[in-house]
Amino acid sequence: MAHLLHIDSSPRGERSHSRRLTREFVEAWKQAHPTDSVTYRDVGRNPVPHVDEPWIAGAYAPLEQRTPEAQAAIGISDQLVDEFLAADLYVIGIPMYNFSVPSTFKAYIDQIVRAGRTFVFEPEDATNPYKPLVLGKKMVVITARGDSGFGPGERNEKMNYQDPYVRTVFGFIGITDITFIPVENDEFGGTSLAQSIANARTQVAQLVGALAMQHPIVQP
Ligand SMILES: Cc1cc2nc3c(=O)[nH]c(=O)nc-3n(C[C@H](O)[C@H](O)[C@H](O)COP(=O)(O)O)c2cc1C
Repeated sequence: MAHLLHIDSSPRGERSHSRRLTREFVEAWKQAHPTDSVTYRDVGRNPVPHVDEPWIAGAYAPLEQRTPEAQAAIGISDQLVDEFLAADLYVIGIPMYNFSVPSTFKAYIDQIVRAGRTFVFEPEDATNPYKPLVLGKKMVVITARGDSGFGPGERNEKMNYQDPYVRTVFGFIGITDITFIPVENDEFGGTSLAQSIANARTQVAQLVGALAMQHPIVQP
């Protein structure tokens, strides 16, 4: 039995491609794995706080030395980290905003990439001071973009700070099994958008099947 954490980060509702595709993935997953559980978090419409000075003080002070303000700030982060660590599989929708992720999703990352919780810092180990703590998990990322051509060797490859960033930051905490499914051409519309949505939907259906094989339903 697996636990999914489903996260959306588009501020758009029904018009959001990433939101529609993550929902499609999770619905198909629940059909294939009715006993699996899902937690939903919407950072696009209910943003988490940004890191501030009390947060930093709380993150790096021993529990007994935290001020009430620092404890409150880091308490939110602790809840988000607990929720994150409880999942086996992450299904995340991320629009491209100015070649990277929306600031709401960046704020979420800053809350969950935590020394001592999702990675450890060991300065005495000069060759490998940062060690990941989030191991054995899988991630599916549905990206949505107005333009296209952000893949390897394509015309916008060098402007893509979205997938490489997501791969880097989640790899840093130990999540290296990440599948990206893009929806592109939102700004062009017409057949180029329709074709991209159709491709993404096919990839979602295939991936639900492929991941299902790695998480077989246990027969009673
Ligand atoms: C503030 C903002 C910045 C954007 N920046 C980019 C960009 O850098 N590159 C791009 O291809 N599309 C860009 N877009 C278009 C979105 O990525 C596109 O509309 C996408 O479909 C949004 O995701 P959603 O459909 O899940 O809401 C931007 C849109 C907005 C609102």
